[in-house]
Amino acid sequence: MKFFIDTANLDQIKEAQDLGILDGVTTNPSLMAKEGIKGEENIKNHYKTICEIVDGDVSAEVISTDLEGMIKEGEALAALHPQITIKVPVIKEGIKAIKYFSDKGLKTNCTLVFSVGQALLAAKAGATYVSPFIGRLDDISTDGVELISQIVEMYNYYGYKTQVLAASIRHTQHIVQCAEVGADVVTAPLNAILGLLKHPLTDNGLEKFLADYHKLNG
Ligand code: G3P
Repeated sequence: MKFFIDTANLDQIKEAQDLGILDGVTTNPSLMAKEGIKGEENIKNHYKTICEIVDGDVSAEVISTDLEGMIKEGEALAALHPQITIKVPVIKEGIKAIKYFSDKGLKTNCTLVFSVGQALLAAKAGATYVSPFIGRLDDISTDGVELISQIVEMYNYYGYKTQVLAASIRHTQHIVQCAEVGADVVTAPLNAILGLLKHPLTDNGLEKFLADYHKLNG
C-alpha cells in the first residue's frame, strides 16, 4: 500500500519524506488556504516546491467546474512538473475532463467520491486514482471503510487499473482498516501516519532493554 500525506504544509511533507516511506502528496484548495497560499503564481510555486521535496505523485486540484476551464487549468498544472497529478471533482464536466486528460496520458485523481457509482465512472474515464472520502462518510453515520472495500472489490472484478486512494483519513485506525480491505493508497495527515508507530509495549520494552544495558555498561 502506498502512503501519501494529505497536506500542503512543507514542514510536515519534509518530515514524512524523511521517514523514507512517503509515496506522494495530496492537496486540495482548503489545505492550500490553510497554509495561506494565495494567488496563481504562489500556488503554482508551492506545487513545484512540494514536487522537489517528494519523489512521488503530487495531486493539484483544479478549481474550474466547466470542461474548458478544467482542461486549461489541468494542462497548466501538469506542465509545472512531471509528478503533478490533476485532481478533478467527480461531476459531469469532471468525468469528461478526466477522459480528456487520460487520453493525453496525463495522471488524474478523481476527488469528492462518495459512492461506488461515482468510482465506476472515474474508472471508465481512465482516472489514475479515485479518492473516496471516508471520514466525511463516517461524519454522517455511513461506513467509509465499507465504501473502500466495495470499490476495491468492483475494480478487481472488472480489472480496472484505477488505484483506490482512501482520503479524508481522520485517525490512525482508518489507515489500518483501509490496508485490511486492500486500498492501493492511503492519504493521511502526518499525525495519523505517526500514530502507526505507537504501542505502549514498544515503549516499555525499549525502556527495559536500555536500562538493562546501562546497568552493566554504565
Ligand atoms: O484530500 C481531501 C480529503 O482528505 C479531505 O479530508 O478531513 O477535509 O474530510 P477532510
